[in-house]
Amino acid sequence: MKVRKAVIPAAGLGTRFLPATKAMAKEMLPIVDKPTIQFIVEEALASGIEDILIVTGKSKRPIEDHFDANVELESNLKSKNKTDLLKLVEETTGIRLFFVRQSYPKGLGDAVLHARSFVGNEPFVVMLGDDLMQSEVPLTKQLMDNYEQTSASTIAVMQVPHEDTSKYGIIDPEALIDDTTYSVKHFVEKPSPEKAPSDLAIIGRYLLTPQIFDILENQEPGAGNEIQLTDAIETLNKTQRVFAKRFEGIRHDVGDKFGFLKTSIEYGLEHPEVKDNLKPYLYQLVEEMKASDARNDNTND
Ligand code: G1P
Repeated sequence: MKVRKAVIPAAGLGTRFLPATKAMAKEMLPIVDKPTIQFIVEEALASGIEDILIVTGKSKRPIEDHFDANVELESNLKSKNKTDLLKLVEETTGIRLFFVRQSYPKGLGDAVLHARSFVGNEPFVVMLGDDLMQSEVPLTKQLMDNYEQTSASTIAVMQVPHEDTSKYGIIDPEALIDDTTYSVKHFVEKPSPEKAPSDLAIIGRYLLTPQIFDILENQEPGAGNEIQLTDAIETLNKTQRVFAKRFEGIRHDVGDKFGFLKTSIEYGLEHPEVKDNLKPYLYQLVEEMKASDARNDNTND
């Protein structure tokens, strides 16, 4: 069966970005000029996904407005002949998007369960908004290609520093099936470095069979007292094979302040409107910091 549907959980409170996220969806925070959620939607479309469900919550209305037409703005830009800007504004309309609200933040597993009637009895992908992926073939497409061959669930993973295992779902790999695909013994949510079975972390792209919903329905809260998708995947893996695919591209974690800043700089260095100014500015900044460090060293001597 062809994979046609994607689910983007976007109900999180965004506490890592307070106060910016007090009244604003963290998914609308822009990397240079594009809201992070637009990168995710673009990856879905580039992978061949047809229908997208965004699971939202409080303060998330701007996400719906962002992907809707803005007639006033469009006619204003048209009358001023600003065709480039008009193109940017129109790019985010006409996408088959659906919305459902998660009223209580009970965890990622619960957010995904809200997609049950949208997904029905089809395989689907889950795409988390905190991870922006760069690769020749979009990661979501790679998972969909895997499904075409295996008819099985596949979870994207990547090596992370050992001390960071408690931030992620971690897999206990069993065997390599091909260059980048593992069969998996266990999926463990946020283990401490002492308990982590490997350094291979789940990175926010999942291809799942619909059987996951029966499991999520009865899933007890796990790490952080939340209903964890990883725990449901661990159970699914007992009755159906669940593979892990190692991602070989670049992952930008925009889920915390430092990652967000780094990504903004890296994308800025590629952005046609700012790259020519940003690069010399960064060089200048580095020189100034070096000079300032040298002055401090001298004073401390
Ligand atoms: C979620 C998942 C975790 C995964 C991570 C990737 O955690 O529960 O398994 O490794 O996303 O970003 P969160 O970042 O929501 O705590």
